[in-house]
Amino acid sequence: TKPLRIALAGLGTVGGGVIRLLDENGALIARRAGRPIEIVAVSARDRSKDRGVDISRFAWVDDTTALAGLDVDVVVELVGGSDGPALTLARTTLAAGKGFVTANKAMIAHHGLELSRAAEASGAALKFEAAVAGGVPVIKGLREGAAANAIDRVYGILNGTCNFILSKMEAEGRDFADVLAEAQALGYAEADPTFDIDGVDAAHKLAILASIAFGTQPAFGDVAASGIRHVLATDIAEAEALGYRIRLLGLADHGAGGLFQRVHPHLVAVSHPLAHVTGATNAVVAEGNYVGRLLFQGAGAGDGPTASAVVADLIDIARGEFGPAFAMPADALAAEAPADPGER
Ligand code: NDP
Ligand code: HSE
Repeated sequence: TKPLRIALAGLGTVGGGVIRLLDENGALIARRAGRPIEIVAVSARDRSKDRGVDISRFAWVDDTTALAGLDVDVVVELVGGSDGPALTLARTTLAAGKGFVTANKAMIAHHGLELSRAAEASGAALKFEAAVAGGVPVIKGLREGAAANAIDRVYGILNGTCNFILSKMEAEGRDFADVLAEAQALGYAEADPTFDIDGVDAAHKLAILASIAFGTQPAFGDVAASGIRHVLATDIAEAEALGYRIRLLGLADHGAGGLFQRVHPHLVAVSHPLAHVTGATNAVVAEGNYVGRLLFQGAGAGDGPTASAVVADLIDIARGEFGPAFAMPADALAAEAPADPGER
């Protein structure tokens, strides 16, 4: 059987994880996908960097944006950044009718609608499960598992770095900066960690999630976001004394007043399941009118879990199972005016 041929852009935390996962689970994946998934070419900035995996067996391409022109079925983009080479690669890959898989929530939050239209125009797959909640299959869960439901509220812990920091500060009384450095060393943080701690990364994910849940256009510009930069150890201790924990939550509701999306630190009662989510774990709650409350929880960052979601997308493409990127055709996504926060 013909393998699914992959070009891989980005060989950092997630790119390295994808190579290791395909090496270790390749035979199992080939059986599940109905054919092997083979990386044939790779690209990053520095060819000579030791990546802890053997990349000499793949063709090296200096110009990352040239991967779309190779004889491959799918380009996997694990570079990051809302614009720049990631966006160029997305546009050229989809225009060429090839599949495009990414973990890049910044790009999808900003340009998802355009890219979704481009994928539909050429009949190509555009998939980004890893972009929201790392290894947790929340996009698939909402897009497919809850497809029969009207959903009017989705919320949860969407940033592993912030949850790691808050729960370490809580359990160990550690300083913010010290814990951030640890999250960076573990590969959880964005290249620019201010995206994590200022709530921007969670806002990217919320914009994507809201679009999938409500059938609206991704509207990152309408997300009101603040992060955990100013949360002190004393705030955490005082909240605890009152029976609460502090968690950075993203919340989106879609009611009569329009779409309301915001990210900020919340007091979560210790009786609520989200108060017990610790480390780089993410958890997303969605309320469907027939299924009731769904809770998706698991590793929200890191090489292995994120690679797991990337490769799951590749398996869907290998099987020929993919639909519109945002769960309905791009032109059917409603352009919602943001709700007036005063109405809520
Ligand atoms: P890293 O910084 O670890 O890796 C980025 C890779 O992209 C590196 O191999 C780097 O090359 C390459 N790169 C950077 N800039 C360029 C450029 N201009 N041209 C070509 N290659 C470039 O990032 P991550 O692996 O952590 O993240 C990758 C993507 O996955 C991002 O979109 C991120 O938001 C997303 N993501 C990350 C998660 C995580 O837990 N880390 C979880 C979910 C999503 P070189 O190695 O040569 O420097
Ligand atoms: N920096 C992100 C986080 C990676 O900490 O959640 C996963 O998207």
